[in-house]
Amino acid sequence: MLTCPLCSAPLSAVDNGVACPLGHRFDRARQGYLNLLPVQHKNSRDPGDNLAMVEARRDFLNAGHYAPVARRLAELAAERAPGRWVDIGCGEGYYTAQLAEALPAADGYALDISREAVKRACRRNPRLTWLIASMARVPLADASCQFIASVFSPLDWQEAKRLLSRGGGLMKVGPTSGHLMELRERLYDEVREYTDDKHLALVPAGMALEHSEVLAFKLSLANAQDRANLLAMTPHGWRASAERRARVIEQPEPFEVSISMRYDYFVLQ
Ligand SMILES: C[S@@+](CC[C@H](N)C(=O)[O-])C[C@H]1O[C@@H](n2cnc3c(N)ncnc32)[C@H](O)[C@@H]1O
Repeated sequence: MLTCPLCSAPLSAVDNGVACPLGHRFDRARQGYLNLLPVQHKNSRDPGDNLAMVEARRDFLNAGHYAPVARRLAELAAERAPGRWVDIGCGEGYYTAQLAEALPAADGYALDISREAVKRACRRNPRLTWLIASMARVPLADASCQFIASVFSPLDWQEAKRLLSRGGGLMKVGPTSGHLMELRERLYDEVREYTDDKHLALVPAGMALEHSEVLAFKLSLANAQDRANLLAMTPHGWRASAERRARVIEQPEPFEVSISMRYDYFVLQ
């Protein structure tokens, strides 16, 4: 199902990698992933999340703070029983690995543009096909997937639509306006308001919202490392002032914060 990122022809397995009939060849890294991001498709030397962000997110998620979010995503995916699925913008693979567990018989793919993220993600499940690739040019064939996950990630809607077979769908998970409210109130004098359904205006013709739900719970972050990781994995890690960030991290009492995630499922009609 993989396609060449340079000419879109099908890729097939060759010694320690994949190649297309025109001779474009891509090696498998020692860790097991394929790098299908040609240098001419990169807009910087190291695109995507950097090592510090990836490690902060991995440590925070591995501590289980967002376990209910991953569990619900896995349930929603299992209900749809796709034959083939892809996690676009998989990061360091926390949600991807749980999707794979919930979909043991399916053919699973995961991609991210960040090398540091994919290098770590692929350790989580060697049965999946892990790719360094851009969501703007996903190296998978047209209409090849029945389920796409997009978790806390930017999204190229047209490209996602191209990948879906009819009746297949895209599950988008992202924060609602109440997410991390207590944290944002401590970091900023004025908390920026945003509407959490502005992505609905981007949905391409031919795709329809079939299901929406919100998962909300309170999280108590007792240790400074967890609070530092949470800041480092979000834009607040650079947007808020250093002084406010330090105050949040170093405060002696546990810090309670609202988690509020929205799941939207769009079907290709
Ligand atoms: C906020 S992280 C979410 C990661 C993961 N889904 C999670 O929730 O743990 C967003 C991810 O999108 C990736 N990303 C950004 N632009 C991308 C692109 N053009 N193509 C593929 N991945 C991209 C980043 O490298 C990063 O890993």
